[in-house]
Order: sequence, then structure tokens, then C-alpha cells
Amino acid sequence: MTASPLAIITVPHPVLKQKAAEVARVDDAVRAQMDAMLATMRAAAGIGLAANQVGLLNRVLVMDLGEEGPGPIRMANPRVLWASEERSAMDEGCLSIPGQQALVERPARVRVAYLDHDGRAAELEASGLLSHCVQHEMDHLDGILCIDYLSRLKRDIIVRKVQRATREAARL
Ligand code: NI
Repeated sequence: MTASPLAIITVPHPVLKQKAAEVARVDDAVRAQMDAMLATMRAAAGIGLAANQVGLLNRVLVMDLGEEGPGPIRMANPRVLWASEERSAMDEGCLSIPGQQALVERPARVRVAYLDHDGRAAELEASGLLSHCVQHEMDHLDGILCIDYLSRLKRDIIVRKVQRATREAARL
């Protein structure tokens, strides 16, 4: 199946604040969605993308850290099995908040259970960038954005910058 890029939704669209629902099973439609999301993420030079960001409210996310990572990862119904006490702070970007970054502190390491693209139960143990990425994408599925970890003032400034840039891009 050919996977054509989908439109990426940016802040402050309300779908980014909604909670996504579990998928009943990983069928051909979910697999096609995963592939389309990977193509969309790559076209935008991102390393992760969650369903909300393309306007779909099911618990599906994709990641690919390129040479730094284990290859493309497709997840349905991810959940954290374990998180380290140790914390990690990192500047995070988001395709729904283009051109902006937020310093976010999270558990340094996590173990995540999910269904893979064949619908099989799988686990991912992540540290470093991959750990931030998977937690960031799982947040999306609960309607949480990386800028939600900032002060309201900083968050509002970032949202206004993105809105202004999006309006200007639409005029070109
Ligand atoms: Ni994001």
C-alpha cells in the first residue's frame, strides 16, 4: 500500500488536547495508518508522530530515530510498564509546534508494552532520546503536549508564535 503524507495539525487545534481511544485490534486499516504516519513524519523530518497530530483519535504512534535508533517503530495501545526514578531533562521539539522547543523533565528510562504492526504483544526498553520520544508521543495520545510542562506564560508565547507563523505561511 502506498503511504501518502497526511496533513500535520498544529497548536492550538483542539484535537491535540483530546484523549485517543484504544484500538480494538491491529488490522489492515491500522497498519495503513501506521505506514502513512511514518511517511508523514519522515516528510516533515520528525522522529515521532502520534495519531492526534494527523487528526485521528486512536492510540497509535510511530517513531524512527534514524541512525541513532533501532529503526522504525510502530505502536498501538502503548502503556508504561516501568519508569526509572532517575530523571532526564531534554529540549523537545514537536511537529505540531514547529520551530519551537520545550525543556521537559521525564523519567530517564522506561519500559513500554504495546502491540506491534502484526498485532503481537511487544516491549520497548528506552533511554536517552528514545525514552523522551516515546513518552512525548504517549503524552500526545492523552492530549498532553510538551509545552504543557512549561509555565502558562511560556506556553502562550509559543502558541502565539506558531499561530502567527502558520497564518503567514497560509498567505504565501
Ligand atoms: Ni509532538
